Amino acid sequence: MKFFIDTANLDQIKEAEALGVLDGVTTNPSLMAKEGITGAANILNHYVAICDAVEGDVSAEVIATDFDGMIKEGEALATLHPQIVVKIPMIEDGVKALKYFAGKGIKTNCTLVFSAGQALLAAKAGATYVSPFIGRLDDVSTDGLNLIQEIRHIYDNYAFETQILAASVRHTMHVIDCAKIGADVMTGPLSSIKGLLNHPLTDIGLAKFLADYKKGN
Ligand code: E4P
Repeated sequence: MKFFIDTANLDQIKEAEALGVLDGVTTNPSLMAKEGITGAANILNHYVAICDAVEGDVSAEVIATDFDGMIKEGEALATLHPQIVVKIPMIEDGVKALKYFAGKGIKTNCTLVFSAGQALLAAKAGATYVSPFIGRLDDVSTDGLNLIQEIRHIYDNYAFETQILAASVRHTMHVIDCAKIGADVMTGPLSSIKGLLNHPLTDIGLAKFLADYKKGN
């Protein structure tokens, strides 16, 4: 299972990278705005800074919502850095753009996926990654993990190569449940990755080991 961090915050990206378990980064316009990164030139520079900080795929989202605009923006993003994956929304022209980029050998991440039907379309169009937003489904009383299970089942039926990127992950249990189901990738905040470290028995056990060592030395 690949671990992506879902942030545009360079310090957090570097902290996750330093842990040695990071496989990539996802961003979106809201995450960029949260870091105060605005204006096309600054946003492009920030993508390059993120790519320089990590090994692995870095998703950069197009703003255009028409086919020609998405192609133009996506091609510019793809030339920015070899690690860039073009993030395309699940809309009609987005599906066409996914197909176009697949033909060009440019990696894509189909974002804002909330149903198995949308995930099926993304796979048919040749998306590299599909991003079902599990946290946002949970927010509206719909089981996000159930969607991951449905997509896993469908993709396995036909050996689709599109990777399931569980997105909108909010906490450690999302990560663990996605791993049990067999999501290929999860993207979440730093807390969802570092939270996996925590267990009180580890802390208690370590304190006891160190105390006992000190007794004999
Ligand atoms: C995925 O690529 C999105 O950036 C992200 O996971 C959205 O998460 P949120 O629902 O916590 O905003």
